[in-house]
Amino acid sequence: MDLTQKILELKKEKKAVILAHNYLRPEIQDIADYIGDSIELSRKAVEEKDAKMIVFSAVDFMAESAAILNPTKKVLLPCLGARCPMAQMLTVDEIKRAKKQYPNAPVVLYVNTLAVCKAECDVCCTSANAVEVIKSLNAETVLFGPDSNLAAYAQDKTGKKIIPIPENGFCPTHLLFQPEDVQVLKMKHPNATVMVHPECSSDMRKVADFIGSTSKMCRYAKESPSKQFIVGTEEGILHRLRKENPDKEFYLAYEGAICPNMKLTTLERLYASLKEEKNVVRVPQAVANKARASLERMFEVKS
Ligand code: 13P
Ligand code: SF4
Repeated sequence: MDLTQKILELKKEKKAVILAHNYLRPEIQDIADYIGDSIELSRKAVEEKDAKMIVFSAVDFMAESAAILNPTKKVLLPCLGARCPMAQMLTVDEIKRAKKQYPNAPVVLYVNTLAVCKAECDVCCTSANAVEVIKSLNAETVLFGPDSNLAAYAQDKTGKKIIPIPENGFCPTHLLFQPEDVQVLKMKHPNATVMVHPECSSDMRKVADFIGSTSKMCRYAKESPSKQFIVGTEEGILHRLRKENPDKEFYLAYEGAICPNMKLTTLERLYASLKEEKNVVRVPQAVANKARASLERMFEVKS
């Protein structure tokens, strides 16, 4: 029996569900019960009422959110070293400092944060709903962290004053995209549609035809009449895009745009974690209770 088969058998036996982010390795996406962006995976983790265990194939903050939202389920992160570096860029001290400086500004945190930070904010958001979450607040000035690019995008879209905390939080993978590379690709493929993630720089946003979360990009590519796309997000998404659109062509806007943390989940690690039920994600109860409230407030916003 090959490893994929062994995982599928074990999954059935243990009543486990495998969730995978759009950036995961193709072989992980292919065995997952559900593939999605961060908001879809959080929702799915809650909806899977019959599952006893969730194997969260992604990075730390996503699995942590699932554990916070499902205190009775075992949530496994196949590789505990899979940590989003952007989530590490914001500390509780930084949030407290900003709150002191802007006492009337609500704090909105991207889900790419540590649980202890989520516990300190008013509401969470993802790249799929940041604009709607900020619009829903009765405030013209908002503290937002840790992604300063998503903060700038939300400021453009809402017209509100968005103060980034920290000042320069960023995703190291999305920082690699440069508009010059898009221009070169456009010369080769003049009819291609450019899709970029809001974690990209404002210069990248300026050359985009579409800006959205990873799953929004997948939906856009499916529905668009365009046959060629230049993609400004992590390379793992190409597997899904190509699988769902065999008649269309996808070019990565920069070939080296790989999130090393998203690649740490391998079939071998997933199998070991499921078999031994190891790498359980645990969040202290007091932190989880406060962080859950911030996540649930996000779910209440229509988007
Ligand atoms: P999405 O919610 O768009 O999938 O983004 C998560 C992420 O980490 C992007 O780098
Ligand atoms: Fe974090 Fe960027 Fe990797 Fe997403 S792509 S998990 S934001 S480092």
